Amino acid sequence: MSAVNDLHLLQNDLSDGVFTIRFNRPEKKNALNLAMYRALTECLCKADEDAAVRVVVIAGSDGCFTSGNDLTDFMTAPPTGSDSPVMAFLHAISTFRKPIVAAVTGSAVGVGVTMLLHCDLVYAAAGALFHLPFVNLGLCPEAGSTLLFPRLMGHQRAAELLLLGESFSAEKAHSVGIVNAVVADGELLVTAREKALQLAAQPAAAVRLSKALLKRDYESPLQGTIMEEGKEFMARLKSPEAAEALQAFMERRKPDFSRFS
Ligand code: COA
Repeated sequence: MSAVNDLHLLQNDLSDGVFTIRFNRPEKKNALNLAMYRALTECLCKADEDAAVRVVVIAGSDGCFTSGNDLTDFMTAPPTGSDSPVMAFLHAISTFRKPIVAAVTGSAVGVGVTMLLHCDLVYAAAGALFHLPFVNLGLCPEAGSTLLFPRLMGHQRAAELLLLGESFSAEKAHSVGIVNAVVADGELLVTAREKALQLAAQPAAAVRLSKALLKRDYESPLQGTIMEEGKEFMARLKSPEAAEALQAFMERRKPDFSRFS
């Protein structure tokens, strides 16, 4: 996994069967650019095959999980098909066979939240802030979230988070089932590692089988949903609403959607 480390956009470490991936682009709040998606996908594919890896931990850095997809990339290098780096990443994480533990601190935005739906244990620092601003950006939800959110929390609560797109607390994320537990900010990484070590000590084949069985009834619609959402998302990126929202972000102003119907 050294080629991936050379990018410096992820910090990786394998010890005691736990492979830890940390986003490392703090100057952009760990926004995921194309290189990071490619590196993440490569990491996950190798970790899935590597018998030395029993559990993966995904974490942020510098008090930030990730601010989601790089918004500049949405304008200059938008995804155009199922082979785009973001789609490859979503496929890799949603089909990953071993357990994934996520440690969320600071901001988790967009795919920074929806990727948690494909993790098995999710811990959040008390100060973490979650945000799903897909609609606010003139886009639509992705990563299978239109299937998994209503399944997890019911239609009304999913609609509230996805259609209003307001940021919400770690406690709220816990109450709707996105996170397993909220812990003190300073205890987050220790807690995630403890749980990962606990999982790593379990019989690996039984863990893999049980994870697959837990996902059995939604595995097939999930991949279809990810593809369908991806197609719509890519079309929305070309919409006037998204153009206004992205331009507004760059200009640090509020978007004005009043002229679109
Ligand atoms: N894509 C590209 N750049 C991003 C980014 C993103 N998703 N999120 C943050 N950045 C950049 C900012 O433009 C800024 O760059 P600059 O210093 O060159 O101006 C830098 O990261 C720091 O961000 P800033 O907004 O000043 O930090 P903050 O602590 O005030 O707010 C966030 C952090 C995450 C709440 C805020 O940056 C944000 O809302 N980002 C957009 C998230 C988003 O919409 N993601 C896409 C979801 S589909």
